[in-house]
Amino acid sequence: MSFPEIRPRRLRRNAAIRRLVSETRVDPAELVVPMFVKEGLTEPRAISSLPGVLQHSRESLRKAAAEAVQAGVGGIMLFGVPEQRDPTGSGGVDPNGILNVAIRDVVAEVGDATVVMSDLCLDEFTSHGHCGVLTPDGEVDNDATLAAYAEMAVAQAAAGVGMVGPSGMMDGQVGAVRRALDAAGYQDVAVLAYAAKYASAFFGPFREAVESALEGDRRTYQQDPANLRESLREVALDVAEGADLVMVKPALPYLDVVSAVRAAVDVPVAAYQVSGEYAMVEAAAANGWIDRERVMLETLTSIKRAGAQIILTYWAVEAAQILRERH
Ligand code: PBG
Repeated sequence: MSFPEIRPRRLRRNAAIRRLVSETRVDPAELVVPMFVKEGLTEPRAISSLPGVLQHSRESLRKAAAEAVQAGVGGIMLFGVPEQRDPTGSGGVDPNGILNVAIRDVVAEVGDATVVMSDLCLDEFTSHGHCGVLTPDGEVDNDATLAAYAEMAVAQAAAGVGMVGPSGMMDGQVGAVRRALDAAGYQDVAVLAYAAKYASAFFGPFREAVESALEGDRRTYQQDPANLRESLREVALDVAEGADLVMVKPALPYLDVVSAVRAAVDVPVAAYQVSGEYAMVEAAAANGWIDRERVMLETLTSIKRAGAQIILTYWAVEAAQILRERH
């Protein structure tokens, strides 16, 4: 027998063999595209820190939603950008607030051809940019915020959303939202819990996308990037409170968290490849330093390999188109 006896390279010899033994495939149905809609816009507008992503008008949002369905994506996550903000974020609860209007528009456009989801958080709607309402001395008031989330969930359900995504990291938010939905007769609206969400600098470009000027930071409610076990605790609480799916966010810098969460729970696990992850790749690619398409697909494959069966990504529509051509 010649040396080496074992030759792993045999299974990498050509594309056909590599395809045969590939352990991880990303399917368009597992990709969810976040979309932004801005109140009062007549034409869609570019977001400079997120090249290729738009602030939609109501009309362009409907078209983009239809295109996403054509591409075969599994879901659309909606974010609203209001014209007016106030300290309590009342635009999020208002049935005529931009996000609730957009839910109605998109549901009317796509029906149940894809899952329509909505961000359930106050930061897009508050003048101070925090994810909740504040106490007189400027702290984020957990329990008062729960009441606002409960109302917001019912407003989104009334607009026809299929799945709500509470993302504010208030204690008890999943339970509060689940109870409110059930009490209002929306037992069938699912909860995608942003269960493990870190106080991450990778959310930077998102702030431009939603035009949020945050006073201070979110470290009293989002998690410390140093902590892994804390995520398992957050996830367990959310599942106990009725989360149908749990999400880890950001994705790529937290693949160990994705993997640990996958091992810890039986519900579907999602990961959110956030604005800064996308912007880093786009910026490097624009400089000619990396191969954009290969890096895009490599990141998605890695997030799935780590244990996320659903991925929120600004590349969802494009990636779905590329993946469908390949199969
Ligand atoms: C909260 C929310 C944020 C993101 C999604 N939902 C902002 C934050 O928590 O600071 C960030 C998404 C991204 O960076 O792509 N409404």
